[in-house]
Amino acid sequence: MRSGKSGPRRGYGLSELGIVEEGAVLVKDGKIVVVGKRDEAIAAADVTLQRIDCNGGVVLPGFVDSHTHPAFMAPRLVDFEKRIAGATYEEISAAGGGIRSSVAQVRAATVPQISEKVLSGLKEMLRFGTTTVEAKSGYGLSVDAELNSVRAIKSAATRWPGQVSVTLLGAHVVPAEYKENPDAYVKIICEEMIPIIAWEGLAEWVDVFIEENAFTLEQAERIFAVAQAHKLGVRAHVHQFSRCELSRLQPFAPASLDHLDCVNDADMQLLAQQDTVATLLPAANYFLGHASYPPARKLIDAGVAVALATDYNPGTSPTCNMQFVLSVACTHMKMSPAEAIAAATINGAHALRLAESKGSIEAGKDADLALFDVEDYREIAYWFGANRCVMTMARGEIQFGRDRV
Ligand code: NIG
Ligand code: FE
Repeated sequence: MRSGKSGPRRGYGLSELGIVEEGAVLVKDGKIVVVGKRDEAIAAADVTLQRIDCNGGVVLPGFVDSHTHPAFMAPRLVDFEKRIAGATYEEISAAGGGIRSSVAQVRAATVPQISEKVLSGLKEMLRFGTTTVEAKSGYGLSVDAELNSVRAIKSAATRWPGQVSVTLLGAHVVPAEYKENPDAYVKIICEEMIPIIAWEGLAEWVDVFIEENAFTLEQAERIFAVAQAHKLGVRAHVHQFSRCELSRLQPFAPASLDHLDCVNDADMQLLAQQDTVATLLPAANYFLGHASYPPARKLIDAGVAVALATDYNPGTSPTCNMQFVLSVACTHMKMSPAEAIAAATINGAHALRLAESKGSIEAGKDADLALFDVEDYREIAYWFGANRCVMTMARGEIQFGRDRV
């Protein structure tokens, strides 16, 4: 897998996987040293090798899951049943369900309790071949509970062998107690949450859910200005159910804009000129039972840098499985298996500004690898709902392994 050092993959470049048949990867001290044909790679080794036979399987860079919400305590089965009975996500949210119904449990939990939940999600991701994860807070919605959530993510990250990039999503929805005065809550995010997060080095990113039942673009601008002043990176949930004016986010140079279900042609032209990655989350559309999906084909053909992520969360996407996301991306968004793989690895790494060390199998990068029990890489998206990953390596150490599927 070649990275294209010049920035995220676009257009035709998204489908160039740089496959090496009969290949080998030489790893030393947690880093990739040589990638190439097996005989050449072995000849390049200057020490006695510990060999791992991949049995003709397919090795990919570990998946980079660049959008997840793992800091929650319990599944939302009531919402699930209400939706089956015909209610929409927006209706459930407007009636006090949705994101707000995950809040009481997180507020009542201790940091170790939240951290255990986060860690169990991360461990499951590793078994599906994911080695780098972006993890958001967002179910606390108070200074204490949001700080607890990011601390819990940080603590889980220290006990997980992959890499975690932490995001403050205090602006997920307005908590019930500020329903009549959302700006007062925005003020708390700006004057308390962000400064503490930045001061204590608890997160790299600030995210805002810009949506009719969540935050306005104007509120997001206020939050992002403070984030930028505190040298935190910016990313946002946009265009999931309703549109906003994307050009107003440009001054904040967001690393990623996520969902983009209702993106239009003008937005695509704008995004095509930027390194902002469009992170698509089709597992959420699948789980919400939507008939429509983000227009991946149009985005890619317009030259927008597209990434794929799980959106792992209890409301719209309770899955840790990036292989399933690849499958939905192919069947419902008409991405090719090759495009889906690049979007789930190197472009995910770009969405986290980690492409120097993650997202491709290249000398000098971290030895984060996933082995799949398939003969052809396309099978990873083909056998949907399954887990074809049989081994995951993070920084040169095998962290998950089983014989065969
Ligand atoms: O990305 N859209 C906002 N946040 C999540 C949903 C979170 C939830 O419903 O708990 C998402 O889909
Ligand atoms: Fe999300």
